[in-house]
Amino acid sequence: MARVFITGSSDGLGLMAAQLLIEQGHKVVLHARNEVRAADVNKLVPRAEATVVGDLSSMLQTRSVAEQVNRLGTFDAVIHNAGVGYREPRRNDTEDGLPRVLAVNTLAPYMLTALIEKPRRLVYLSSGMHHGAHLNLDDLTWTKRRWQGAQAYAESKLHDVLLAFAVAQRWPEVLSNALEPGWVPTKMGGSGAPDDMDQAHRTQVWLAVSEDPAALVTGKYFYHLQRRAANPAAGDLKQQEALLKACQAMCGIALP
Ligand SMILES: NC(=O)c1ccc[n+]([C@@H]2O[C@H](COP(=O)([O-])OP(=O)(O)OC[C@H]3O[C@@H](n4cnc5c(N)ncnc54)[C@H](OP(=O)(O)O)[C@@H]3O)[C@@H](O)[C@H]2O)c1
Repeated sequence: MARVFITGSSDGLGLMAAQLLIEQGHKVVLHARNEVRAADVNKLVPRAEATVVGDLSSMLQTRSVAEQVNRLGTFDAVIHNAGVGYREPRRNDTEDGLPRVLAVNTLAPYMLTALIEKPRRLVYLSSGMHHGAHLNLDDLTWTKRRWQGAQAYAESKLHDVLLAFAVAQRWPEVLSNALEPGWVPTKMGGSGAPDDMDQAHRTQVWLAVSEDPAALVTGKYFYHLQRRAANPAAGDLKQQEALLKACQAMCGIALP
């Protein structure tokens, strides 16, 4: 039996992953953006061990999420699942002055990775859209370019793969992998999304807890329980370090 923390588990794939893990007999700690969403999810998943609360678009609240998690003890796996989609019509500046997509999809997983006591496995939710993205690390915050929501989302999902691979390099004792769940009809995916909803949450669960040798790897990318090539930019060690440095500059927290 494993103990797993899942960000963004009040809805969609995070919620589905939580329910599947609990069905399989694992212990799960949920995460919701605020007390109202926490109450919603506690009704949906009454067998969860606990629910931590915090809006990941806020650096202050993201720190608090990490503190709440650490107070609960250590985890076998952390799934960085929370995300904002590709339909942000504008930068939607956060209280820290960052585009919301960057804050939630890139900076929050970085901060939580750095602040939560190291688990045995880390899983990062990317997207098929990351394959076509360029890094543009000189304009992470979209101050030099005209805003494009889909591109900002695709870049943030490329960041998630870089982060997974950078952690795999730095922390050999931790299994750190990324995946794309397929385009599926969650709140984010929208009703017309064509991929298989029944497969979409399984890869994150498998990477978090399975003893299947195929899941006991690190620095790899997956789709539907199968290895898949990631965007080659994600394997570039210099770019990985550049992303970590940029995240550190934004939040003041170094990745140990
Ligand atoms: N669905 C797809 O087709 C698809 C495709 C590729 C990749 N993905 C990735 O899969 C992951 C899960 O997506 P999904 O489809 O399950 O999306 P979803 O149904 O919209 O759920 C997203 C989850 O993240 C939470 N969240 C969003 N912003 C937050 C914030 N600022 N603070 C705290 N929590 C926040 C949401 O909370 P609320 O419930 O309060 O909104 C919800 O629990 C994402 O990383 C996404 O990029 C999804």
